[in-house]
Amino acid sequence: MLVRVGILGATGYVGEELIEILLAHPQVKITAVTASANLEKEEPIGKLLPRLAGRLSLDCFTLDVERILPLVDVVFLALPHTVSQDIAVAIVEAGKKVIDLSADFRLKDPSLYEKWYHAPHNHPDYLEKAVYGLTELNHAKIEGVELVANPGCYPTGAILALAPLFNKKLATTHSVIIDAKSGATGAGKKPSSFLHFPEIHGNLKAYKVNAHQHSPEIEQELSELAQEEVDVIFTPYLLPTDRGILTTCYVGLKERMETNEAIALYQLFYQNDPFVRIHPAGSWPELAHVVRTNFCDIGITIDAERKVAIVISAIDNLVKGAAGQAVQNLNCMHGWDEKLGLLP
Ligand SMILES: NC(=O)c1ccc[n+]([C@@H]2O[C@H](COP(=O)([O-])OP(=O)(O)OC[C@H]3O[C@@H](n4cnc5c(N)ncnc54)[C@H](OP(=O)(O)O)[C@@H]3O)[C@@H](O)[C@H]2O)c1
Repeated sequence: MLVRVGILGATGYVGEELIEILLAHPQVKITAVTASANLEKEEPIGKLLPRLAGRLSLDCFTLDVERILPLVDVVFLALPHTVSQDIAVAIVEAGKKVIDLSADFRLKDPSLYEKWYHAPHNHPDYLEKAVYGLTELNHAKIEGVELVANPGCYPTGAILALAPLFNKKLATTHSVIIDAKSGATGAGKKPSSFLHFPEIHGNLKAYKVNAHQHSPEIEQELSELAQEEVDVIFTPYLLPTDRGILTTCYVGLKERMETNEAIALYQLFYQNDPFVRIHPAGSWPELAHVVRTNFCDIGITIDAERKVAIVISAIDNLVKGAAGQAVQNLNCMHGWDEKLGLLP
């Protein structure tokens, strides 16, 4: 029997990408799609998102948990942070599974959530229950779980780039430099002067320098891997393109290491992960190689004299950084092949 899925926030960039992926998934049927409270009346989803016309005949309605519950087995929340938290808990408490793509269940410490998202967390007990859905690191924990906190797009690229070095305790933990450039869909569909076409076309600009809400998420997960506190210096940039994140990480090494040893370590670490591709020495990831796929490509070189690793990753922010990874997590939750709906 097909699993019935609902997508809340279906009209946003992530919601639309989820629909696109799930339409081709052999084990699911999309049975509910919602938009914000601003939707004046129900509209066919194909009218709101013309790319879907003739491919999904469902009406999109204003988010209403009671109405959704009888229609679904699993719900994807592609909602703004702070909006997700009460909705996620209501759905889980009704016995349904939730994959939350917002930041509401990613940080384990509620005081950090309040500091970075400027709102109290109403369900701190669920922060412990939620599993952080960076699939490659947490496959086993995700199977059977009720609530997955899907990672942020920048954290996905940065953590996958650094995980093998921290997991093997080879990296120094202080002031890890992460420099990440994202396409404009990373900021969502809501228009702003910062994202206005003339402001970004032909331009490259940094933003939220030393002040981006994904810093604590990256630090939390790297610290978990290293089993000691890791701190990062994270600078995001806005690229004049629609999708993709290219991340460059600079991290000190505790001991001297050569590039070929590092590449071998990464190949071994990700040997069972179909969506992580490690480049050979001297070859580097590019956005064009990963856009509209669920891959994370990683290239690495070592400056052996200075004992520094330089690691570059590339992902599509809407796929591996959001909807694709969420479907990977759906597959793991159900014990299905992780590649289902994502790779032939
Ligand atoms: N964009 C990315 O690359 C990316 C990557 C990873 C994670 N995320 C996270 O995924 C979530 C969705 O991101 P997005 O980029 O798709 O955002 P978006 O384009 O702004 O879409 C937000 C969606 O939520 C709906 N919505 C907004 N406020 C709502 C409310 N109060 N009640 C009910 N529905 C509401 C919107 O409906 P209307 O269309 O009717 O306003 C829309 O469907 C965010 O938490 C974001 O941080 C995004």
